[in-house]
Amino acid sequence: MSKSISGFSKLSKSKKIDWIVDTYFSNNKNAKHILKQYWNSDDKLQQLHDEFIENTITNYYLPLGVAPNFLINDKLYTIPMAIEESSVVAAASKAAKFWMDRGGFKAEVLSTTKIGQVHFMFQGSFESLKNFFSTIKSKLIEDAKPITKNMEKRGGGIIDIELRDKSHDIEGYYQLHATFETLDAMGANFINSCLEQFAKTFKEEALVFKDFSESEKQIDVVMSILSNYVPECLVRAEVSCPVTDLTENDNMNADEFARKFVQAVNIAEVEPYRAVTHNKGIMNGIDAVVLATGNDFRAVEAGVHAYASKKGKYSSLTHASINDGIFKFWIEIPLALGTVGGLTSLHPLVKLALELLHKPTAKELMQIVAVAGLAQNFAALRSLTTTGIQEGHMKMHLMNILNQFEATNKEKELLVNHFKTHTVTHSAVVEAIEKIRA
Ligand code: MEV
Repeated sequence: MSKSISGFSKLSKSKKIDWIVDTYFSNNKNAKHILKQYWNSDDKLQQLHDEFIENTITNYYLPLGVAPNFLINDKLYTIPMAIEESSVVAAASKAAKFWMDRGGFKAEVLSTTKIGQVHFMFQGSFESLKNFFSTIKSKLIEDAKPITKNMEKRGGGIIDIELRDKSHDIEGYYQLHATFETLDAMGANFINSCLEQFAKTFKEEALVFKDFSESEKQIDVVMSILSNYVPECLVRAEVSCPVTDLTENDNMNADEFARKFVQAVNIAEVEPYRAVTHNKGIMNGIDAVVLATGNDFRAVEAGVHAYASKKGKYSSLTHASINDGIFKFWIEIPLALGTVGGLTSLHPLVKLALELLHKPTAKELMQIVAVAGLAQNFAALRSLTTTGIQEGHMKMHLMNILNQFEATNKEKELLVNHFKTHTVTHSAVVEAIEKIRA
């Protein structure tokens, strides 16, 4: 039976586990064993993970794989990917190899501006508010100096603050809309600290602004928070080659492949049902690298999907064309990433992942992540428009089915061999296991 508990966060880790297994599990010994099985034997390392969040009871593993042979702007990378989906790393590696032999990926960062807003309510004349804002704008920036001075030393900081009238959407609603350059930091803490300081200065100064009426002096700040929509923090990645170079073997007609591939992209550009799945495939690559490098994949997801809807209809993040016999395939996405701060200097695997990527700047990481998304989409569309997705997907999924049936190493060897020449489906695998075991 479920029951509530007060003061749970104050209990020791072992008491928390006791309460959980006693409350929710019929076999509490087994539940406890599973939880403890995933603890790290190095106490210090375990403590580091315990302290990332509140109420940690164990660790949750995801495989960390690598996709080698990514040639990006003429530099070779092996890309770390943290993901559970069987076929993703294999698909990325295949696409990387394919494009390495055709000149590789070209990527460029188009902009790096991030955004934060102070949302507030003001009852009075917009003209007086504008006057007030222009009078105190420099003070807003000045009061944030203790927060911004280090970032400024490195060439970043506050770019601008604008006053925005939103009273057409909600009566009395206005914003301070601020833009920031956060260099190699993702910048969430920096931006939020600046915004909270702006809000404080804004309220305090309003109280003593002599041109305000008594009611105008009472500015009501609703909240101060960065935006994860970063359409001005954009990266573009591209591949191109003569259509005739698109063949890998004689079974595939290059012209037909190129035509179908572009049609598949065009469909995702106009059809939201397809666009969502198309972009999900892109995010398979993007999230895996974002996670491996200790970045916030929820922020990236939210921002990317908002960008995919920027014209009012959800659409493809990638585009493709054939002009004068040249096939071109590209992606343009907003990515707010960091290579300093956050988990990047804390999580040993994140540090390792960044070192594997030649310790990239945030801009370089944006390029790598965009390329991982483009490669993933290339691999998916190539399968979808030729063999169908299930062939490759089920081949990779075979091991999961075998593990589900607790196949021995010998059984695995036999069945992997068998399915080299047979189609993998769940029922075909079950049948084959039963046959061996009989
Ligand atoms: C599966 O995780 C991703 C795909 O569905 C993407 C796509 O359809 O483009 C294969």
